[in-house]
Amino acid sequence: MTKILFAAGWQRWKQYKHVLSLALAKAGLQAELSQHHAPEEVDYIVYAPNPQFSDFTPYTNAKAVLSLWAGVEDIVTNKTLTQPLTRMVDAGLTEGMVEYVTGHVLRHHLGSDAQIVNPARVWEPKVPPLARDRTVGILGLGALGAACAAALSALNFRVAGWSRTQKSLPGVTCFSGPDGLTDILGQSEILVLLLPLTAATENLLIAETLMLLPQGAVILNPARGALIDDDALVARLDSGHIAHATLDVFRQEPLPPDHPFWAHPNVTVTPHIASETRADTASGIIAENIRRAEAGKPLLYPVDRKSGY
Ligand SMILES: NC(=O)c1ccc[n+]([C@@H]2O[C@H](COP(=O)([O-])OP(=O)(O)OC[C@H]3O[C@@H](n4cnc5c(N)ncnc54)[C@H](OP(=O)(O)O)[C@@H]3O)[C@@H](O)[C@H]2O)c1
Repeated sequence: MTKILFAAGWQRWKQYKHVLSLALAKAGLQAELSQHHAPEEVDYIVYAPNPQFSDFTPYTNAKAVLSLWAGVEDIVTNKTLTQPLTRMVDAGLTEGMVEYVTGHVLRHHLGSDAQIVNPARVWEPKVPPLARDRTVGILGLGALGAACAAALSALNFRVAGWSRTQKSLPGVTCFSGPDGLTDILGQSEILVLLLPLTAATENLLIAETLMLLPQGAVILNPARGALIDDDALVARLDSGHIAHATLDVFRQEPLPPDHPFWAHPNVTVTPHIASETRADTASGIIAENIRRAEAGKPLLYPVDRKSGY
């Protein structure tokens, strides 16, 4: 019997208990899923950061830790976690992010705010350009960034993307490395951040890099707050160089009530809702990874401890 510890908090336990048990059975696994196994008997740990669980030391026989989150910056830095670690790539999570990103890109592309909030009843026809004449840049071309790039390209946007290693994606002008960053920022009228938070990406958008964006650019950040220097962003919004920022993630969450983002007229705050791991689709991924590990096959979506994602 494979013993699986669910260590992702009691609220998620309610969502996962049934669907994950079904997915494990469907994968042909004889598994005992519980929140309370004796540590030395645990074979796999399904994990999301939570106040009750941060010490992996007693789980001496655990073969892998399977994260329910796509972003693992808080997990990868846990020194007690020495077991192989996987991150979440989930069809539901990807779909949700594609919807959030295309929705907000279209909002800014079409200039919809001017019509949605128009208390003075101003009649001012301002026809937006076609998507084919608008460049959207996406920083990060992984599971989420590549899916958003494909969706925006299907809508006819000119799509550029940037990643650590060079990519080749249909309909996307791909950049990589430091020179590639300068190139993509210089042409991104709407910039979407879908990078993981690592030592190399923290504070990527500071005063100097924000200045590389075209005058009047819009930023969407559904990745992680610490990719951007908050003060530098506010300064560029105040100067008008950045026209708007739609932010879903913050250095401190919930965003403190006195943070300048709340009051800024050109900032939209969404409360970390861009996308969420969905229990029904994610359970299949967890079960498949345990099945693979039990069959001696390599795990899907392993986290590289050196690069931090
Ligand atoms: N707001 C939300 O609700 C929400 C939900 C889910 C995820 N997220 C965030 O979204 C992030 C991205 O998720 P994902 O699943 O798409 O991650 P992923 O598949 O690991 O993709 C990460 C992408 O970023 C690129 N990258 C990493 N470090 C880089 C660097 N130093 N320079 C240039 N490119 C770099 C990678 O390049 P390579 O392709 O060369 O490796 C890859 O293309 C997560 O880490 C998480 O923080 C937010």
